[in-house]
Amino acid sequence: MKRTFLFSLLISCFLLGIAQNSANSRMISTPVPARPAGQTDVLQLRTDPIPTVRVAFIGLGMRGPGAVKRMTHINGVEVVALCDVEEKNVKKVNKMLEDAGVDKAKEYYGNTEIWREVTALPNVDLIYIATDWLHHAKIGIQALKDGKHVAIEVPSAMNMDEIWELINLAEQKRLHCVPLENCNYDTFELTTLNMVQQGLFGEVLHGEGAYIHGLQPFWQRYWNNWRMDYNRKHRGDLYPTHGLAPVCQAMNIHRGDKMNFLVSVDTKAVGNPAFIKEKTGEDVKDFRNGDHTSTLIRTEKGKSILIEHNVTSPRPYSRMYQLTGTKGFADKYPIRDNNPIPYHEGAYALGGDDLDSETVPNHEDLNAHRYMSPETKLAIMKKYQHPITKAMFDDKKTVLEKAQEVGGHGGMDFIMDYRLIYCLQKGLPMDMDVYDLAEWCCLIPLTEISLDNGSAPVEIPDFTRGSWNKLDGLKFAQ
Ligand SMILES: NC(=O)c1ccc[n+]([C@@H]2O[C@H](COP(=O)([O-])OP(=O)(O)OC[C@H]3O[C@@H](n4cnc5c(N)ncnc54)[C@H](O)[C@@H]3O)[C@@H](O)[C@H]2O)c1
Repeated sequence: MKRTFLFSLLISCFLLGIAQNSANSRMISTPVPARPAGQTDVLQLRTDPIPTVRVAFIGLGMRGPGAVKRMTHINGVEVVALCDVEEKNVKKVNKMLEDAGVDKAKEYYGNTEIWREVTALPNVDLIYIATDWLHHAKIGIQALKDGKHVAIEVPSAMNMDEIWELINLAEQKRLHCVPLENCNYDTFELTTLNMVQQGLFGEVLHGEGAYIHGLQPFWQRYWNNWRMDYNRKHRGDLYPTHGLAPVCQAMNIHRGDKMNFLVSVDTKAVGNPAFIKEKTGEDVKDFRNGDHTSTLIRTEKGKSILIEHNVTSPRPYSRMYQLTGTKGFADKYPIRDNNPIPYHEGAYALGGDDLDSETVPNHEDLNAHRYMSPETKLAIMKKYQHPITKAMFDDKKTVLEKAQEVGGHGGMDFIMDYRLIYCLQKGLPMDMDVYDLAEWCCLIPLTEISLDNGSAPVEIPDFTRGSWNKLDGLKFAQ
């Protein structure tokens, strides 16, 4: 009797082993290069303080000029070089510097390799890159080789080779290489992050994020048609960072948890081929990017994330941003009330146990199964305003007030730039590091692999190469 039981147990274990192996054998992995000898991670990297940060900007199309303008509002910044393929873009931004009453910058333009002179300049601390996607990592890699800190617009790298090279160089040179992910700094995301860190949502188990933005007004304005061309050639989530980044921050990714694998499903391509047909008459048969791409991710600590990409359907703009916790729910879209900026977006559903009667007089009435009123939400958001935005920018304004004055997507762009410069000036660790860049951008190549293999699971590498559990949560240096 005993023997039969043991025998069946062994058979069951064996069969379970086969089942697990076959599930694992479906998992596609990409190569993880060994860390070169003598090199260590750059988690919480501190560098020598730079009281006056000398910045060179490369890429001055629709996005770049706003960044230059924002920098003119921050003390201790010198814009020393401006670079774009197009002469007119450089001249226009230099005129803007002149009009703002600051020194004009040295100009570089004329061809797609001219940026090499800029990354090589001896009098530059930070290279700020806002070109098309294909040049991002290429320029970033050379800038690191040339000994510069680097900030790269999103998505900052498009394939695994670029991602690993940026990581290896940042580690080898002990330099910052950060993604310019502004959406982490929007008021709802920042406040919610603070609420998460104060325990209001319990354990965050599931997060959703998206880039849902019909780009029809913009397609024909991109330099050299780079964006439509990339969409035509590639399946997958090509713009994952706005949706994924704030969810990863709330889940402490590579600061106590890590993303293990993803699975993607897309629709066929309809909207963009129709757009090309309408504008050019071309009957497109080879358009790779589906109208809607959905990606599910599972983390080591048992959390899940859903990320969506859709740049063509007739829908209102949305980055989704939802967090489901064991005690409550945060939901950024749609806009649910008409309170003035910056607290107009989003809704929360929370029980009242963690709230005091001073902040929310009716906190006993709160119930996590329904959204709270806009007035209650406003009171909570004011109480949980993130400390980095409460800091004084100058002797008259807080960072949040200054951000609203300067603008840039409602102020989040300014907070991002201010934090980048603040940390460089003080020699503090950055809010976002090269591993964030890797985690948020790797969805581009990895979702394409999943889709091209029948939605197979694809492993998300541990870009820290063993240190994902070293830090105890995300903390912004003050
Ligand atoms: N974070 C955000 O909210 C946000 C918003 C918009 C755009 N972006 C990102 O910003 C980047 C730029 O987007 P955009 O809308 O300004 O595109 P764009 O096409 O208007 O501008 C790109 C510019 O880069 C220049 N350029 C291209 N190759 C170059 C090279 N080799 N050397 C120098 N200059 C070069 C082009 O001349 C052009 O002026 C993209 O990565 C995009 O995804 C981010």
